[in-house]
Amino acid sequence: MSNSASLASLADDFERFKRELPRDFPAHVRDAYRINLSARYLGEPLPHPVGKGSGQLSLNVGQLETDAEAGLAFVVLKTVIAQDAAGAQSMGAWAIHESKMKVERRGAGWTVTWKGRGWDRSFEEYLALVRAGWDLTRDRHLLTVPSVKYHLPRLDEPFRDGEYANTTTALAKAWGQSPLLLEKDFSPTLAGDPLSDEKAQILRWLREVPQHVRAHGDVRLAMKLMNARFDDDFQREMVNAARAADALVVFNRLYDVEHGVAYGGVELSDRNLRVLARLTPGASPGIPELSGTGNVSSGRMIVDYALRGCSSVQLHTFFQLPLEEYAATDGSRTQRALHALIFDPRDGLVAVMLEREAAGLLHRRDGELHFLDLLPDAYRSH
Ligand SMILES: Cc1cc2nc3c(=O)[nH]c(=O)nc-3n(C[C@H](O)[C@H](O)[C@H](O)COP(=O)(O)O)c2cc1C
Repeated sequence: MSNSASLASLADDFERFKRELPRDFPAHVRDAYRINLSARYLGEPLPHPVGKGSGQLSLNVGQLETDAEAGLAFVVLKTVIAQDAAGAQSMGAWAIHESKMKVERRGAGWTVTWKGRGWDRSFEEYLALVRAGWDLTRDRHLLTVPSVKYHLPRLDEPFRDGEYANTTTALAKAWGQSPLLLEKDFSPTLAGDPLSDEKAQILRWLREVPQHVRAHGDVRLAMKLMNARFDDDFQREMVNAARAADALVVFNRLYDVEHGVAYGGVELSDRNLRVLARLTPGASPGIPELSGTGNVSSGRMIVDYALRGCSSVQLHTFFQLPLEEYAATDGSRTQRALHALIFDPRDGLVAVMLEREAAGLLHRRDGELHFLDLLPDAYRSH
């Protein structure tokens, strides 16, 4: 099919799928457009790059089932606060309860204002969610990944290995197989905490956390880096310090010191894309696999992250917009969001990949365009 014929059928698909998005839309995209959306997160192959970031939208089995039904590629479970065998949590200040979220416009984008932090129910209840997530993962309905906030010491303190041991072992047991896939959360509220006043302290965490987690199990570890309250150069130093991880999620929300809240929107994606563009992936050892997060609200933004090395993206805010913001008229928010991200005739992933082909920036291999070909060479080999 010619590029213009593809664009015409894309407009038809966009209209048709407003009422119902086919669960296996990646197969449809491959058949109809010869576009292969295969992507990757934490070394796992994905049918397409769109997943859900950790947060209030992955707290229970019902949410996971809805996402599996919609055909989402993966979901990171809400962050649990690590605890030792006696139940003590050094990061207990993050296990607070707060249910109210406010979805607001911020500049040209959206942000969610929320004062809560980590998982606020029992660790046993979290393990039950991990087991349910494993069932969906095993049956290939939906890749799920737990997320933890472990103890982070001051420079003159040792790591509390009791927390690392107890939490990692319990999660590995709840997870069905080895290796355990896991995200370690360095959250934006942590960036606002006095603990993060010192650069050397943050860099030590990033260098040493992987060995403290892996000491207690066969773990494939993603580290979700915060946007620290320092400049872009330091953000790059953080990435370099975190090279022992298997993947990096780049980068969690910005922190507004004055109002004491984390925020997203265009400022977040601007900062993230700016820092990612300045990384030097060819250096040795290379930068781990990257998963982009922050203001992903169109296929065009997925491409912006991919062009800077991200083989998947993790969204939160775009799954939470008022219903009238989505073009789709039926389906769950996850389905409506996917409909826009993939099929929007101007800014959807299919449209932008075709646009790059027409501009001579993306080429077919064996007759197909490949999402992963958007990544710079040095990131493709993961
Ligand atoms: C209400 C809310 C709660 C969140 N909770 C967590 C969390 O517990 N752990 C975590 O790693 N990220 C958390 N996040 C960050 C999101 O996963 C995501 O990385 C971030 O919001 C940037 O993506 P977005 O611009 O699409 O929202 C939270 C975000 C929001 C809005």
